[in-house]
Amino acid sequence: MNKPSIYARITGTGCYLPERVLTNEELSKMVDTTDEWIVKRTGIKTRHIADPSEATSDLAAEAGRRALAAAGVKPEEVDCIIVGTCTPDMYFPSTGCLVQHHLGAKNASAFDVSAACSGMMYSLSVANAYICSGYYQTVLVIGADTLSRLVDFKDRATCVLFGDGAGAYVMQRSERPGIEYVEVGADGDEWDILTIPAGGSRLPASHETVEKGLHTVRAKGREVFKLAVRVMEESVVGALNKCGLKPDDIDLLIPHQANLRIIDAGRQRLGLPWEKVMANIDKYGNTTAATIPIALDEAIRGGRAKPGDRVLMVSFGAGFTWGITVAVL
Ligand code: ACO
Repeated sequence: MNKPSIYARITGTGCYLPERVLTNEELSKMVDTTDEWIVKRTGIKTRHIADPSEATSDLAAEAGRRALAAAGVKPEEVDCIIVGTCTPDMYFPSTGCLVQHHLGAKNASAFDVSAACSGMMYSLSVANAYICSGYYQTVLVIGADTLSRLVDFKDRATCVLFGDGAGAYVMQRSERPGIEYVEVGADGDEWDILTIPAGGSRLPASHETVEKGLHTVRAKGREVFKLAVRVMEESVVGALNKCGLKPDDIDLLIPHQANLRIIDAGRQRLGLPWEKVMANIDKYGNTTAATIPIALDEAIRGGRAKPGDRVLMVSFGAGFTWGITVAVL
């Protein structure tokens, strides 16, 4: 691949997890499950749940604030705010506009990107295009979700999987290598493997939709599992080939955190040792668009990812969507 002269670089990261921790033990009192089943089948031990006073924009703004502080960028220096989320505060205004308001980022345009668990990778791809085209200098990209608000806490197959959280990157124009490769993809034929059926224009909220519990997550877990493993392997191998890289050239793989067994299956197929793979699903569960930015922020702050390291981030989620990014920090 030709080397570009201008890159978008991640110059600061931040994340925010709500205070309240929900344990497997507590869930086992709510539905017919056990700590042992959840840990063995998913790798999840705890997840964080937003306080009733908190909405997605509150989590997103706090993660954004921390990323701006890490990058040494003032809110008014931000040209654009992009929030990847499938749990916006409301239909409109966008969560991006609410974050702009919370941060006082008066000079920024703001909008949301809807790609479920791939929301951060899709948002990053948009930010990358804006920056590389010269349109914007500084973009705040946030993945934030409060899926606990849309989970049926009587459905043991889904309620154990999710947590709330937000993660953010400040992305800036740079002559030093940063984002080396971005690719996003979708297969709308698989739209029905992960859905929230009601509440949109097809099935607007009504007494009936509420009574039938149609406002919560429906997942064909086994199908998602298989697709996720395949997409993870294919997109990572494809990205490495296009970049002329080998798995050894990657310092840290940051996969979407949906199930530790999915991460492990992808890791094994790529022949990567655990030392090169970031997994924090045990603490946070699946925080939807937030898993990857939370994991990168943790990796940087915990010393697992250093300036100059090459990280590979890969996501998959409802849609069916996926996204992959190779970035030099
Ligand atoms: N506790 C105890 N038993 C359970 C639970 C639970 N929490 N959930 C399901 N089971 C039972 C099932 O009822 C089933 O019982 P049966 O054999 O008597 O019918 C049995 O466990 C096996 O069910 P499977 O669905 O085959 O379990 P599996 O090992 O596939 O694990 C899981 C289910 C964890 C959902 C897995 O398929 C998965 O991780 N899928 C992908 C993740 C996913 O769908 N995430 C949605 C989020 S969106 C995203 O991030 C892509």
